[in-house]
Amino acid sequence: MATNRALRLQSAAEVAADVVLNGHVERWVEGAIFPCEMAFFIATCIANDIECVIESGRQDGYSTEILGDWASRGGQKIVSIDLELEPRRAALCRERLAKWPIELVKGSAYEEFGRHAFAQAGRKLALLADGPKGWPAISMLAAATSESVHVVALHNLIVGCQERRYLQELGGGSDIFYETAIPAPGPRWKQLRERELSIATKARAARSLDASSLGVLVLDEARRSKFRRAWRPEFGLHQPAVVRTLWASGMYAAATKLYGLSYRMLAR
Ligand SMILES: C[S@@+](CC[C@H](N)C(=O)[O-])C[C@H]1O[C@@H](n2cnc3c(N)ncnc32)[C@H](O)[C@@H]1O
Repeated sequence: MATNRALRLQSAAEVAADVVLNGHVERWVEGAIFPCEMAFFIATCIANDIECVIESGRQDGYSTEILGDWASRGGQKIVSIDLELEPRRAALCRERLAKWPIELVKGSAYEEFGRHAFAQAGRKLALLADGPKGWPAISMLAAATSESVHVVALHNLIVGCQERRYLQELGGGSDIFYETAIPAPGPRWKQLRERELSIATKARAARSLDASSLGVLVLDEARRSKFRRAWRPEFGLHQPAVVRTLWASGMYAAATKLYGLSYRMLAR
């Protein structure tokens, strides 16, 4: 029998699917998070009463626009961080997002994530990383995880990769991908999935359409504490506790340097 939590997520998924079906499926572009993945993230935020989302990696603004559309209905705060390395592309993205209630930040997520996660700590937070990726993104998410953080999500967790396994283990068997988290989707979700398949197949999407790669993890007290304390060889020099200490001392730029140094010295 489905638990209350599963039923809550399933009904939130219908609301989230409705948001994404509001013209966003057709706007999907290669490299962006898939529509159903975004709907799953928003559904998890709805089911957990999230008040603020901090995103890193917006590129052309696909995922960000969906967050903005959702927030325009419910009043949640959205902060989106990107390096904006290509000025023309960044300007077009800002133009696209101008009508939505989103705080757009230009800078390195390795410092801005810390700054904004601390600034928003009075709210129930969800963190979404889609640039940087992999272990550096995981350490950044763990460093930013405080008592206020209830949901963390990371993109590009392809089947078989170690980062995927790590987050699945951290979830302790909870379902961090929508295929298993929403086993009996409602009509709006089914419609969304059909539209997604049709659009992404036409666009010859590079990523698999069979297995989603946005892992969305709900943090209860035990998981949050384990995640905050994570210390792993894969993090190299950017261990979450070290990054958090730098942020807490106001040494935000030093955090970006630490990630750079770790990559140069240890290729991590
Ligand atoms: C795959 S794209 C994001 C796509 C977007 N989430 C979507 O679904 O439409 C990755 C983005 O991450 C940004 N990025 C990569 N590393 C970053 C960092 N350390 N700090 C901030 N942004 C970063 C890049 O500038 C790029 O725009």
